[in-house]
Amino acid sequence: MNETAVGVFDSGIGGLSVLRHLQQLLPHENFVYLADQAHVPYGPRSHAEIRRLSEAVTHALLAQPIKLLVVACNTASAAALSYLRQQFPALPVVGMEPAVKPAAMQTRTGKVGVLATAGTFESQRYASLMARFAQGVTLYENPCRGLVELIEAGNTEGEETAVLLQQILAPMINAGVDTLVLGCTHYPFVLPLLDRLLANAPQPVTIIDPAPAVVRQTRRVLAQSNLLTTATAPGTTRYLTTGPATGLASAVSQLLGEEVAVETAVWQDSLAGPPTAEAPGQ
Ligand code: DGL
Repeated sequence: MNETAVGVFDSGIGGLSVLRHLQQLLPHENFVYLADQAHVPYGPRSHAEIRRLSEAVTHALLAQPIKLLVVACNTASAAALSYLRQQFPALPVVGMEPAVKPAAMQTRTGKVGVLATAGTFESQRYASLMARFAQGVTLYENPCRGLVELIEAGNTEGEETAVLLQQILAPMINAGVDTLVLGCTHYPFVLPLLDRLLANAPQPVTIIDPAPAVVRQTRRVLAQSNLLTTATAPGTTRYLTTGPATGLASAVSQLLGEEVAVETAVWQDSLAGPPTAEAPGQ
Protein backbone atom coordinates (compact mmCIF):
# COMPACT_ATOMS: atom_id res chain seq x y z
CA MET A 1 0.00 0.00 0.00
CA ASN A 2 2.79 2.46 0.84
CA GLU A 3 4.24 2.15 -2.67
CA THR A 4 0.86 2.90 -4.22
CA ALA A 5 0.75 6.27 -5.99
CA VAL A 6 -0.65 9.56 -4.74
CA GLY A 7 -3.41 10.72 -7.10
CA VAL A 8 -3.47 14.37 -8.18
CA PHE A 9 -6.21 15.94 -10.26
CA ASP A 10 -7.23 19.20 -11.84
CA SER A 11 -9.61 20.24 -14.60
CA GLY A 12 -6.52 20.65 -16.76
CA ILE A 13 -2.87 21.57 -16.50
CA GLY A 14 -3.19 23.87 -13.48
CA GLY A 15 -2.54 21.08 -11.00
CA LEU A 16 0.93 20.68 -12.54
CA SER A 17 1.83 23.78 -10.49
CA VAL A 18 1.06 21.70 -7.38
CA LEU A 19 2.53 18.48 -8.72
CA ARG A 20 5.98 20.07 -9.19
CA HIS A 21 6.02 20.97 -5.47
CA LEU A 22 4.80 17.47 -4.53
CA GLN A 23 7.60 15.89 -6.57
CA GLN A 24 10.15 18.13 -4.82
CA LEU A 25 8.97 17.59 -1.25
CA LEU A 26 8.15 13.88 -1.67
CA PRO A 27 10.75 12.71 -4.21
CA HIS A 28 10.33 9.01 -3.42
CA GLU A 29 6.55 8.93 -3.84
CA ASN A 30 4.89 7.76 -7.04
CA PHE A 31 2.22 10.03 -8.50
CA VAL A 32 -0.64 9.69 -10.98
CA TYR A 33 -1.75 13.04 -12.42
CA LEU A 34 -5.14 13.25 -14.11
CA ALA A 35 -6.16 16.30 -16.13
CA ASP A 36 -9.89 16.38 -16.94
CA GLN A 37 -9.22 18.33 -20.12
CA ALA A 38 -12.40 17.05 -21.79
CA HIS A 39 -14.28 19.29 -19.34
CA VAL A 40 -11.93 22.22 -18.67
CA PRO A 41 -12.72 24.90 -17.56
CA TYR A 42 -14.57 23.92 -14.39
CA GLY A 43 -14.88 27.56 -13.26
CA PRO A 44 -18.11 28.45 -15.11
CA ARG A 45 -19.83 25.06 -14.41
CA SER A 46 -22.47 24.47 -11.75
CA HIS A 47 -21.32 22.97 -8.47
CA ALA A 48 -23.52 19.90 -9.10
CA GLU A 49 -21.72 19.30 -12.37
CA ILE A 50 -18.28 19.81 -10.81
CA ARG A 51 -19.19 17.28 -8.09
CA ARG A 52 -20.23 14.75 -10.74
CA LEU A 53 -17.01 15.27 -12.73
CA SER A 54 -14.83 15.14 -9.61
CA GLU A 55 -16.48 11.89 -8.54
CA ALA A 56 -15.86 10.32 -11.96
CA VAL A 57 -12.24 11.48 -11.92
CA THR A 58 -11.78 9.99 -8.44
CA HIS A 59 -13.10 6.65 -9.70
CA ALA A 60 -10.64 6.88 -12.60
CA LEU A 61 -7.76 7.49 -10.21
CA LEU A 62 -8.81 4.77 -7.75
CA ALA A 63 -8.66 2.31 -10.67
CA GLN A 64 -4.90 3.05 -11.11
CA PRO A 65 -4.84 2.64 -7.94
CA ILE A 66 -4.07 5.51 -5.54
CA LYS A 67 -3.61 5.72 -1.75
CA LEU A 68 -4.44 9.44 -1.30
CA LEU A 69 -6.07 12.09 -3.47
CA VAL A 70 -4.84 15.66 -3.87
CA VAL A 71 -7.54 17.84 -5.43
CA ALA A 72 -5.08 20.25 -7.06
CA CYS A 73 -7.91 22.52 -8.16
CA ASN A 74 -9.46 25.28 -6.08
CA THR A 75 -12.72 25.12 -8.01
CA ALA A 76 -13.18 21.35 -7.55
CA SER A 77 -12.20 21.71 -3.89
CA ALA A 78 -14.73 24.52 -3.41
CA ALA A 79 -17.54 22.56 -5.06
CA ALA A 80 -16.76 18.95 -4.26
CA LEU A 81 -14.31 18.40 -1.40
CA SER A 82 -16.89 17.52 1.28
CA TYR A 83 -18.83 15.45 -1.23
CA LEU A 84 -15.74 13.45 -2.23
CA ARG A 85 -14.93 12.79 1.44
CA GLN A 86 -18.48 11.47 1.91
CA GLN A 87 -18.42 9.33 -1.21
CA PHE A 88 -14.94 7.89 -0.61
CA PRO A 89 -14.64 7.60 3.18
CA ALA A 90 -11.63 5.25 3.04
CA LEU A 91 -9.61 7.61 0.82
CA PRO A 92 -7.64 10.45 2.43
CA VAL A 93 -8.41 13.60 0.40
CA VAL A 94 -6.36 16.82 0.52
CA GLY A 95 -7.91 19.93 -1.05
CA MET A 96 -7.04 23.55 -1.76
CA GLU A 97 -8.47 26.93 -0.93
CA PRO A 98 -7.44 30.50 -1.77
CA ALA A 99 -4.82 31.66 0.75
CA VAL A 100 -7.04 34.39 2.22
CA LYS A 101 -5.91 33.68 5.79
CA PRO A 102 -2.15 34.18 5.25
CA ALA A 103 -2.88 37.16 2.99
CA ALA A 104 -5.05 38.82 5.65
CA MET A 105 -2.32 38.24 8.22
CA GLN A 106 0.45 39.80 6.17
CA THR A 107 -1.17 42.72 4.32
CA ARG A 108 -0.09 46.15 5.54
CA THR A 109 -2.49 48.19 3.44
CA GLY A 110 -5.44 46.00 4.48
CA LYS A 111 -6.16 45.47 0.77
CA VAL A 112 -5.81 42.06 -0.80
CA GLY A 113 -6.40 40.99 -4.40
CA VAL A 114 -7.85 37.53 -5.00
CA LEU A 115 -7.66 35.85 -8.40
CA ALA A 116 -9.81 32.70 -8.61
CA THR A 117 -12.62 31.27 -10.73
CA ALA A 118 -16.32 32.08 -10.56
CA GLY A 119 -16.95 28.59 -9.17
CA THR A 120 -14.59 29.26 -6.27
CA PHE A 121 -15.95 32.74 -5.49
CA GLU A 122 -19.54 31.45 -5.52
CA SER A 123 -18.87 28.66 -3.01
CA GLN A 124 -19.80 28.20 0.63
CA ARG A 125 -16.18 27.38 1.36
CA TYR A 126 -15.04 30.78 0.08
CA ALA A 127 -17.82 32.58 2.00
CA SER A 128 -16.72 30.80 5.14
CA LEU A 129 -13.04 31.71 4.51
CA MET A 130 -14.00 35.37 4.19
CA ALA A 131 -16.16 35.30 7.30
CA ARG A 132 -13.43 33.65 9.38
CA PHE A 133 -10.29 35.37 8.17
CA ALA A 134 -11.00 38.53 6.18
CA GLN A 135 -12.57 40.71 8.85
CA GLY A 136 -11.10 44.20 8.62
CA VAL A 137 -9.48 43.47 5.26
CA THR A 138 -10.86 44.59 1.90
CA LEU A 139 -10.76 41.88 -0.76
CA TYR A 140 -10.59 42.83 -4.45
CA GLU A 141 -11.83 39.77 -6.31
CA ASN A 142 -11.63 38.93 -10.00
CA PRO A 143 -12.87 35.68 -11.63
CA CYS A 144 -10.34 36.14 -14.46
CA ARG A 145 -12.71 35.11 -17.27
CA GLY A 146 -10.78 33.53 -20.14
CA LEU A 147 -7.47 33.20 -18.31
CA VAL A 148 -7.66 29.44 -17.71
CA GLU A 149 -8.46 28.90 -21.40
CA LEU A 150 -5.42 30.98 -22.46
CA ILE A 151 -3.13 29.04 -20.12
CA GLU A 152 -4.56 25.70 -21.32
CA ALA A 153 -3.75 26.85 -24.87
CA GLY A 154 -0.13 27.36 -23.83
CA ASN A 155 -0.38 31.14 -23.91
CA THR A 156 1.38 31.99 -20.64
CA GLU A 157 3.44 34.89 -21.95
CA GLY A 158 1.74 36.31 -25.03
CA GLU A 159 0.18 39.68 -25.67
CA GLU A 160 -3.43 38.51 -25.23
CA THR A 161 -2.69 37.12 -21.77
CA ALA A 162 -0.71 40.23 -20.82
CA VAL A 163 -3.62 42.51 -21.83
CA LEU A 164 -6.14 40.42 -19.89
CA LEU A 165 -3.96 40.39 -16.78
CA GLN A 166 -3.37 44.12 -17.06
CA GLN A 167 -7.16 44.69 -17.09
CA ILE A 168 -7.55 42.42 -14.06
CA LEU A 169 -4.72 43.96 -12.05
CA ALA A 170 -5.21 47.68 -12.81
CA PRO A 171 -8.15 48.27 -10.41
CA MET A 172 -6.38 46.26 -7.71
CA ILE A 173 -3.15 48.20 -8.07
CA ASN A 174 -5.05 51.51 -8.10
CA ALA A 175 -6.88 50.51 -4.93
CA GLY A 176 -3.58 49.93 -3.11
CA VAL A 177 -3.48 46.14 -2.92
CA ASP A 178 -0.16 44.91 -1.48
CA THR A 179 -0.94 41.18 -1.43
CA LEU A 180 -2.24 39.03 -4.28
CA VAL A 181 -3.70 35.56 -3.73
CA LEU A 182 -3.47 33.05 -6.58
CA GLY A 183 -6.70 31.13 -5.96
CA CYS A 184 -6.53 28.93 -9.04
CA THR A 185 -3.78 26.41 -9.73
CA HIS A 186 -3.47 27.54 -13.35
CA TYR A 187 -2.31 31.03 -12.37
CA PRO A 188 1.22 30.32 -11.07
CA PHE A 189 2.09 29.63 -14.71
CA VAL A 190 1.66 33.33 -15.51
CA LEU A 191 3.89 34.44 -12.62
CA PRO A 192 6.54 36.00 -14.91
CA LEU A 193 3.81 38.16 -16.50
CA LEU A 194 2.31 39.01 -13.10
CA ASP A 195 5.73 40.02 -11.79
CA ARG A 196 6.31 42.24 -14.81
CA LEU A 197 2.91 43.93 -14.54
CA LEU A 198 3.18 44.42 -10.79
CA ALA A 199 6.66 45.90 -11.03
CA ASN A 200 5.08 49.30 -11.76
CA ALA A 201 2.72 49.23 -8.77
CA PRO A 202 3.26 52.12 -6.32
CA GLN A 203 3.76 49.61 -3.51
CA PRO A 204 5.46 46.21 -3.62
CA VAL A 205 2.90 43.41 -4.06
CA THR A 206 3.49 40.00 -2.49
CA ILE A 207 2.02 37.07 -4.42
CA ILE A 208 0.80 34.04 -2.46
CA ASP A 209 0.60 30.61 -4.09
CA PRO A 210 -0.90 28.06 -1.67
CA ALA A 211 0.81 25.08 -3.36
CA PRO A 212 3.71 24.72 -0.85
CA ALA A 213 1.23 24.67 2.06
CA VAL A 214 -0.94 22.06 0.34
CA VAL A 215 2.09 19.90 -0.27
CA ARG A 216 3.15 20.08 3.39
CA GLN A 217 -0.42 19.12 4.34
CA THR A 218 -0.20 16.14 1.95
CA ARG A 219 2.96 14.98 3.68
CA ARG A 220 1.31 15.35 7.11
CA VAL A 221 -1.75 13.33 6.04
CA LEU A 222 0.42 10.60 4.50
CA ALA A 223 2.46 10.42 7.70
CA GLN A 224 -0.62 10.38 9.99
CA SER A 225 -2.18 7.60 7.91
CA ASN A 226 1.09 5.61 7.86
CA LEU A 227 1.07 5.85 4.08
CA LEU A 228 4.46 7.48 3.39
CA THR A 229 6.49 5.42 0.98
CA THR A 230 9.44 3.48 2.33
CA ALA A 231 11.15 3.53 -1.09
CA THR A 232 14.56 5.14 -1.40
CA ALA A 233 14.67 5.27 -5.21
CA PRO A 234 13.20 8.31 -7.01
CA GLY A 235 9.45 7.99 -7.52
CA THR A 236 7.74 8.01 -10.91
CA THR A 237 4.78 9.99 -12.25
CA ARG A 238 2.13 8.80 -14.70
CA TYR A 239 0.10 11.37 -16.63
CA LEU A 240 -3.49 10.80 -17.69
CA THR A 241 -5.93 13.08 -19.49
CA THR A 242 -9.55 12.84 -20.58
CA GLY A 243 -8.62 15.08 -23.55
CA PRO A 244 -6.04 14.65 -26.33
CA ALA A 245 -2.84 13.05 -24.99
CA THR A 246 -0.61 15.26 -27.14
CA GLY A 247 -2.00 18.39 -25.48
CA LEU A 248 -1.03 17.28 -21.97
CA ALA A 249 2.35 15.98 -23.16
CA SER A 250 3.26 19.35 -24.67
CA ALA A 251 2.03 21.20 -21.55
CA VAL A 252 4.23 19.02 -19.31
CA SER A 253 7.12 19.67 -21.65
CA GLN A 254 6.51 23.45 -21.69
CA LEU A 255 5.70 23.92 -18.01
CA LEU A 256 7.73 21.23 -16.22
CA GLY A 257 10.46 20.76 -18.82
CA GLU A 258 9.91 17.00 -19.05
CA GLU A 259 9.13 14.77 -22.01
CA VAL A 260 6.51 12.28 -20.82
CA ALA A 261 4.17 9.62 -22.19
CA VAL A 262 0.53 10.51 -21.59
CA GLU A 263 -2.26 7.96 -21.16
CA THR A 264 -5.89 8.52 -22.02
CA ALA A 265 -8.41 8.16 -19.21
CA VAL A 266 -11.61 6.73 -20.57
CA TRP A 267 -15.05 6.10 -19.20
CA GLN A 268 -18.34 5.25 -20.82
CA ASP A 269 -20.36 7.58 -18.67
CA SER A 270 -19.07 9.49 -15.71
CA LEU A 271 -21.46 7.79 -13.30
CA ALA A 272 -21.71 4.40 -14.97
CA GLY A 273 -18.75 2.81 -13.29
CA PRO A 274 -15.05 2.90 -12.70
CA PRO A 275 -13.08 4.14 -15.73
CA THR A 276 -9.83 2.61 -16.84
CA ALA A 277 -6.64 3.98 -18.33
CA GLU A 278 -5.27 2.86 -21.65
CA ALA A 279 -1.53 2.45 -21.96
CA PRO A 280 0.16 4.88 -24.36
CA GLY A 281 -0.29 3.90 -27.97
CA GLN A 282 -3.29 1.60 -27.36
N1 DGL B 1 -7.21 25.01 -11.87
C1 DGL B 1 -8.50 25.20 -11.35
C2 DGL B 1 -8.54 25.91 -10.04
O1 DGL B 1 -7.60 25.83 -9.29
C3 DGL B 1 -9.69 25.44 -12.18
C4 DGL B 1 -9.63 26.09 -13.47
C5 DGL B 1 -10.89 25.84 -14.25
O2 DGL B 1 -11.04 24.73 -14.73
O3 DGL B 1 -11.73 26.76 -14.34
O4 DGL B 1 -9.52 26.53 -9.70
